[in-house]
Amino acid sequence: MAPASIFDQILDYTNRANPYPLYAELRRTPVSRADDGSYVVSTYAEIVALLHDPRVSSDLRNRADYAEAGDEEGASGLPPRFIALDPPEHDRVRRLLTRHFGPPHDPDRIVGMRPDLVEIVSGLIDDFAGRNRIDLVDDFAYPFPVTVICRLLGVPREDEPRFHVWADAVIEAIDPTTGDFATRTRRREQAFAELGRYLGELADTRRDQPGDDMLSELVTDDGPEGRLSREELMTNAALLLIAGHETTVNLITNGMLTLLRHPDVLQRLRRQPDLAIRVVEELLRYEPPVQFLSNRVALADIDIAGTTIPRGAPITLVLAAGSRDPDHVPNPDRFDPDRQYNEHLGFGGGIHYCFGAPLARPEAQIALTELARRLENPRLVVDPPPYRPNPSLRGPRHLPVTFDNIAPAPAARGRDHRTVERQLHHA
Ligand code: HEM
Repeated sequence: MAPASIFDQILDYTNRANPYPLYAELRRTPVSRADDGSYVVSTYAEIVALLHDPRVSSDLRNRADYAEAGDEEGASGLPPRFIALDPPEHDRVRRLLTRHFGPPHDPDRIVGMRPDLVEIVSGLIDDFAGRNRIDLVDDFAYPFPVTVICRLLGVPREDEPRFHVWADAVIEAIDPTTGDFATRTRRREQAFAELGRYLGELADTRRDQPGDDMLSELVTDDGPEGRLSREELMTNAALLLIAGHETTVNLITNGMLTLLRHPDVLQRLRRQPDLAIRVVEELLRYEPPVQFLSNRVALADIDIAGTTIPRGAPITLVLAAGSRDPDHVPNPDRFDPDRQYNEHLGFGGGIHYCFGAPLARPEAQIALTELARRLENPRLVVDPPPYRPNPSLRGPRHLPVTFDNIAPAPAARGRDHRTVERQLHHA
């Protein structure tokens, strides 16, 4: 039997805790062919070139093997989400959603949520009182971004057990190790259909009784380009709900794990909250929650790094390997929040650059600052911790942490609750 390719070894769960030596091997051949016929790109310059290349599509209906897979994409009865569309449709949907998320139309939405972020984080840490051990994932890193994305969209937090099941099904279906392309696509679309139906019904109630949340604004929008159709709203609200928490959980958990492995940086963050900005950027480079993107397809023959990627071939962009490319950053395997140059691929690049980055950044900055500040003498219980199965959306399933005590929240120490928010905002 032929030995497994490097990329197949990366997919193998036994390498989940530390795939980075395999990424270094992968980079020796910037564009390689995986066992399933897809082209794997692992060096920074080549990934950036393809992220910006209009001959590279995010619409999987362009795959040569799409017809074989059957019309699974249509199984939900919903249009593709904008992450899986090319221009001009992608750009129209992204513009309509951005109107209710950020500048220029809505510059205050995310900035205005910062006090909420501090309040949610403080409340979750307050709940650790009387304990010396927590699971950072279940007790903190998961409930925090879920609460935030629910508030942003206007989804009742108590419905989490319902949408958790559908979100899990989507995440499992995008894991390339869980079955063939057709089966995974069908499973993913079924989960999106159920989640979309739930969000569509919620949005209908907001049309008559709008609040100040994103769903209400989207169903009542009278902007120059009109509104999203009901189906577009269902499918893209489902994308925001899932993308809005699944990745952030891993950034916070990978972040705390990395800080506990680098106690000098943890100590500095404790005293110097504005270091959080650099810490989070370095984490997005060093331990990124999205390790690779397997959602690209060549629209033409593409010559790159001495290889021709044929039209219709699936392409995998290994963002985590690119961000540690020594031809791009010096000492790439060192966790160094002080590095001056830090262009990373943690949020992707080009037209699909992460929509939620302006929210994910302050979420992680506030979470890690407050954990550093309030957990006294925190320690890892196991290293490495148990990982989730998914090789792409990679992060620990549990992260047990022990500590001696919980320091009081900023307000309880006689400080304005918004101090952290102000420090981070002005840093
Ligand atoms: C640490 C947290 C996050 C990370 C590491 C992350 C990473 C990424 C990456 C790598 C992409 C590029 C996908 C591609 O090119 O196919 C992306 C796109 C996207 N992200 Fe995030 N994300 C995070 C948080 C969020 C949040 C909080 C939201 C929602 C509020 C969000 C919504 C999206 C959406 C909608 C897209 C698709 C954008 C497009 O196709 O134009 N993400 N994200």
